[in-house]
Amino acid sequence: MNDTHFISKAVALALKGKFNTKPGVNVGCVIVKNKKIIGQGFYEKYGGLHAEINAINDVKKRYKTTYLSKLAGSDIYISLEPCSKKGKTGACVNEIKKYDFKRIVIGAKDPTQNGITNLRRAGYEVINLENQQCIALNVSFFHKAKFKKPFIRAKVAMSSDHKSVFTSKQRKWITGIPARNDVQKLRAEADIILTGSGTINEDSPSMNVRAKKIVANKNFVQPARYVFSSDLKLDWTAPFFKLPGHKVVVTSKKNLPKLPQGINNISVMNLGNKNSISPKDFLKKISNLNINNILLEAGPKLLGSFGDCNLIDEYVFYISREKLEDKALYFYGGSKQLNFFDNKLFDIVEEKIIGKDKKIILRKK
Ligand SMILES: NC(=O)c1ccc[n+]([C@@H]2O[C@H](COP(=O)([O-])OP(=O)(O)OC[C@H]3O[C@@H](n4cnc5c(N)ncnc54)[C@H](OP(=O)(O)O)[C@@H]3O)[C@@H](O)[C@H]2O)c1
Repeated sequence: MNDTHFISKAVALALKGKFNTKPGVNVGCVIVKNKKIIGQGFYEKYGGLHAEINAINDVKKRYKTTYLSKLAGSDIYISLEPCSKKGKTGACVNEIKKYDFKRIVIGAKDPTQNGITNLRRAGYEVINLENQQCIALNVSFFHKAKFKKPFIRAKVAMSSDHKSVFTSKQRKWITGIPARNDVQKLRAEADIILTGSGTINEDSPSMNVRAKKIVANKNFVQPARYVFSSDLKLDWTAPFFKLPGHKVVVTSKKNLPKLPQGINNISVMNLGNKNSISPKDFLKKISNLNINNILLEAGPKLLGSFGDCNLIDEYVFYISREKLEDKALYFYGGSKQLNFFDNKLFDIVEEKIIGKDKKIILRKK
């Protein structure tokens, strides 16, 4: 049992908080003595106690009066560098420094903190594994820290000939139930779900998270739902507007019209007075907010606008086996002729079968 083994345990714990810590990170921690886990914890909800504090508290709970001697000489494994700045809770390095840990093993550096240096200065042996599993836990957070803008993930359900919009209303779904259930997880991970007026008016969607296992957690918060609409000609009766959760209309108009009863928690993001909203302007504005992850679930027009501006960091494609030919429209309505699958612009980071469909994730190089 080596460092990789115990940091994997920390990752497994971190994943228990998945969907529930937005817009914060997922972090897990185990405390190990004589190759045995004596305490563990994870970040459970945004603003809650950090993983390492929960793990230390777990040791206190398990060993009561002898916890100090248990902690002395133990190794603490944390999937993310502990915080050195006071945030919603105190700085974790100060709590760690109360104990006589032998080694502090970290899964990934946090570019917003100075915990490693701080602990080394205090005389601790600190090992940074830069472990791929730990980095993968918080892709959007690392992206925001590096580029100062949220990670934009586009979800597209399409046919094998890459068509995503039926030309007639006879059919609604392109992919099967397992693929659609998988989309629930993408939504649950997002801080914001973003769509266009075309999708609202054609589909009257909900665009919330309904997966029972996810919404049952008391710490889960629905992502905010944003819609791009320059002229506000929107189907206000859509569940998108009526369901609970924060809604934002991104528009060139200053104010919303008089809305039907039952629409609450809705606001306007005004972006200029043009006929079409600039995705770049939107990103500039949204980057100042505490938001790491946007899920773009839109039709070809909005997807094409974001894609043409090179703003999409990841495409998650759900591809059915059938060809739709002239029964549907190509998924990308931008003016750039992008070849998504030739590995020049994007890396394939995941490829698997879900039910009868294929899921392919392409990430910007
Ligand atoms: N297969 C899938 O995964 C999937 C996912 C989502 C949607 N869809 C399908 O997509 C269809 C709708 O497609 P769509 O392309 O018409 O609608 P869309 O991309 O969802 O929305 C486009 C509308 O957004 C507004 N908009 C504002 N600023 C924009 C900008 N910079 N660029 C582009 N649009 C901007 C425009 O309307 P205003 O005049 O109001 O500004 C525009 O007509 C629906 O039938 C839906 O079923 C499929």
